[in-house]
Amino acid sequence: MKHLRDKTLLAGLDVGTSKVLVVVGERHDDGRVEIIASGTHPARGLKRGIVVDIETTAYSIQHAVEAAELMAGAPLRGVYVGIAGAHIRGINSHGNVAIHHSEVGARDVDRVLDAARAVAIPTDQQVLHVIEQEFILDRQDGIRDPVGMTGVRLDARVHIVTAAATAVQCLEKCTERCGLEVEGLVLEQYASAFAVLSDDDLDRGVCLLDIGAGSADLAVFRKGTIQHTRSFETVSGDVVTNHLALWLRTSSYHAEELKIRHGAALVEIVPPQETVEVPSGGERAASKLSRQNLAAEIRRCYEYFYELVATELRESGWDEALGAGFVLTGGGAKMEGAIELAEEFFHAPVRLGLPTALGGLSEVVSNPAYATGVGLVAYAAQQTPPARARWYARRKSPASGAPLWSRLRGWFEGHF
Ligand SMILES: Nc1ncnc2c1ncn2[C@@H]1O[C@H](COP(=O)(O)OP(=O)(O)OP(=O)(O)O)[C@@H](O)[C@H]1O
Ligand SMILES: [Mg+2]
Repeated sequence: MKHLRDKTLLAGLDVGTSKVLVVVGERHDDGRVEIIASGTHPARGLKRGIVVDIETTAYSIQHAVEAAELMAGAPLRGVYVGIAGAHIRGINSHGNVAIHHSEVGARDVDRVLDAARAVAIPTDQQVLHVIEQEFILDRQDGIRDPVGMTGVRLDARVHIVTAAATAVQCLEKCTERCGLEVEGLVLEQYASAFAVLSDDDLDRGVCLLDIGAGSADLAVFRKGTIQHTRSFETVSGDVVTNHLALWLRTSSYHAEELKIRHGAALVEIVPPQETVEVPSGGERAASKLSRQNLAAEIRRCYEYFYELVATELRESGWDEALGAGFVLTGGGAKMEGAIELAEEFFHAPVRLGLPTALGGLSEVVSNPAYATGVGLVAYAAQQTPPARARWYARRKSPASGAPLWSRLRGWFEGHF
């Protein structure tokens, strides 16, 4: 039997607000990783992406895991787990050190990274990632790996991602209750990026927006690496559904059905004569609704979402730096017309983010709602050679020879 420990299988666990998803990838002899299985189960016990009931969440995870194992034909032992939500903080930091022997050594790199991550973290938060953005040697910036170069002063810029310690512990508890080892915790939109973005997007500048059921998670990438992260609780598929339920005076269940089956975010793509039946929440008879009116209401929700995103980009200074535009992913990006509306709104190229980076099962790699799950597998694949792409930062520590992630994991495990 194959299992994760022999490193041929890699698994990602995405505990979303609407569904728990397990994606399994297999590494071939040539190093290629391909998606071979997935399992999903409706999520219970989460609110806006955060575990609020460990037992029920563990139950959903168990079912999704069993489905994935059945399909993979092998038991899973460890998983990379996605984490997101409004408790996530992303900060840019930098540090600098003097180079004593003019040539930069591995120890200098470690020292400058230690200096860069020496920032005050609130006691209720813990570090998830310290992602290297660039090194600057004297006046030369944009350096990926300065070892062997000569200079007198080395600077490092990093993006530090922290999460609420309680949210991390709940997620770990749920996973471990299902007999699975947490091999790594990964910011969800960072994971999604591994599945849907190209090197060109990362270099030219791109805003990735994962619109889930409970929140929307944003990440800006430029110069090959992550620059800015943000989570919005008021941007999500559930926000649209709840708004429609109130507006139509029907149940959330019926509103969700209507939204998915008949919704659109652009009025002009809907034939004017089409109507849909709206079941009432109670005793009242069902009513008729023009699909164009439904689309107009959904458009308002998406415009509001895009307005919040535009404000965030403007305030963080990244609005001018997005040469590759926007990539929308997550289930909320499947709304008909949402991509076209975003193009109109942002005056920039916008595309739907399909998780095609690894290839494999077509029902998985063609579904934007699976971007995080696939991305977790792609991220896992990065933790052991061979590396797929260059942009995930320098993985090898020349000093220790250990992958950066395992050093970081060791570091933040010490802080639990
Ligand atoms: N075809 C569709 N059109 C519009 N919305 C859709 C469609 N399919 C799914 N959705 C919406 O996408 C959302 C689910 O997306 P997704 O599976 O990415 O969320 P999640 O990962 O469970 O949640 P989160 O990431 O916020 O914790 C739901 O709100 C659902 O209504
Ligand atoms: Mg999600």
